[in-house]
Amino acid sequence: MDIILHVWRQKNCHVKGHLETYKVANVSADMSFIEMLDMLNAQLTEKGIEPIAFECDCLEGICGTCSMVINGKPHGPESGTTTCQLHMRKFKDGDHIFVEPWRSKAFPILKDLVVQRSAFDRIMQAGGFVSVNTGGARDANNLLIPKESADLAMDAAQCIGCGACVAACKNGSAMLFVSAKVSQFALLPQGQPEAARRAALMVEAMDNEGFGNCTNTYDCEGVCPKEISADFIAKLNREFIKTKRA
Ligand code: SF4
Ligand code: FES
Repeated sequence: MDIILHVWRQKNCHVKGHLETYKVANVSADMSFIEMLDMLNAQLTEKGIEPIAFECDCLEGICGTCSMVINGKPHGPESGTTTCQLHMRKFKDGDHIFVEPWRSKAFPILKDLVVQRSAFDRIMQAGGFVSVNTGGARDANNLLIPKESADLAMDAAQCIGCGACVAACKNGSAMLFVSAKVSQFALLPQGQPEAARRAALMVEAMDNEGFGNCTNTYDCEGVCPKEISADFIAKLNREFIKTKRA
């Protein structure tokens, strides 16, 4: 099939960007969206045009780097799917496809479709870890954990830190990301001694990075490729309130 791509091109964060149009011919329905972009980049390079800058790494939906807005939706039209796992069979011959970077104050555009997401790293550095002595693997196996808590912790731990939740939110809120990271530890005994402190530090870092507040529109949950539930935001709020009582 042939498709018409409208891609955001921007040299760096100091100059204005614009959409450029490219016709991509002979796209296989079995190609991933990333493979299609690679094919276009090879054609651009042959013509002496600078290839489109975009991020990807694992191509398995686990690293969270392949972040782009496709036809207005972070990661594109398929629910619960990262851009790298989106296939061209989801599009039709002759389709016009608009590809843009994440747009959020806290994620400045570095080039074309690449944004700076180190704000997430700084939030994790503020408290997204367990620093108490949890013993060895055998000790962990001796700790009885209710299956419901273990399952919920694993659900939260699926967050790959892609930032789609922020890109979808009208407030540019990072609450879904932070709530997943806080919850994955707070639900397990090893993470509980520091749970309230962790929530306070990560929320403070989130605010300092310029992310907005949550106003319960649930767009974050709707675009999350790992289908992280907005229920975790309630869990984050409960952990945060504990810090105010302490
Ligand atoms: S909560 Fe979902 S959308 Fe947000 S960073 Fe994690 S995986 Fe990505
Ligand atoms: S390239 Fe790793 S999640 Fe898409």
